Amino acid sequence: MKVAALIPAAGVGTRMNTDEPKQFIEVGGKPILAHTLLRLCQSSVIDKIILIVHHSQIKRTQKSILDKYHISRPVNLVEGGNTRQESIINGFNHIQNKYDIVITHDGVRPFVTPKLINDVVHAAIMHGAAIAAICSTDTLKCVKNGFVEKAVARNNIYHVQTPQAFQFNILREAIDRANCDGFNGTDESTLVERMGLPIKVIEGSVLNLKVTTPDQINLCNAILKTQVALQDQ
Ligand code: C5P
Repeated sequence: MKVAALIPAAGVGTRMNTDEPKQFIEVGGKPILAHTLLRLCQSSVIDKIILIVHHSQIKRTQKSILDKYHISRPVNLVEGGNTRQESIINGFNHIQNKYDIVITHDGVRPFVTPKLINDVVHAAIMHGAAIAAICSTDTLKCVKNGFVEKAVARNNIYHVQTPQAFQFNILREAIDRANCDGFNGTDESTLVERMGLPIKVIEGSVLNLKVTTPDQINLCNAILKTQVALQDQ
């Protein structure tokens, strides 16, 4: 079973309000993207990484991430697109069908674990497609112009994360159909869902956060400090 991982990291980080794209911001002394890649390398199931970055960051990524942190898996650096979906498609076009399973994982989720990767991969082998997700614990509201419009029943509501894993042919068909219909999704499972196929949900973790806002940089630093402190005990 051959597994390729597509890592979209070509965002420009408009919600972070910094000149530096969020994947290059350092937490615990390393860029977020380096943490993510080092975590992926801890997984024994991944054979190849396709890292998708903005064209202006290709040289920098090679030198200051892949070389500097000795990323131990074969990595192809691919140019990203204007949307996450375009970036994923650019990456997908670089893998041939010699891979049975394709994982997608946000470059800005630095706390993914080898176990979560293994679990989604095995679920995709069994069911065709699988995602990490966490059940909503907060009360949910639909808000319009700063005021509550109505409550949203939270039973069975999940926050979808990455990693996501797909059998190669399923993802290829989902991408082809989305392209054909001009559909743009915020993740790959949405493309598979449109085909009416089952998607297995694997329990993710609140620690598997997507770094999006400045607050989450502080949270990342706090998590890393705690992890180091626990290792030292
Ligand atoms: O901002 P968003 O939540 O969509 O970002 C999720 C991941 O997709 C990030 O790692 C980001 O760098 C990546 N992305 C991308 N190409 C884009 C937009 C986002 O690879 N055009």
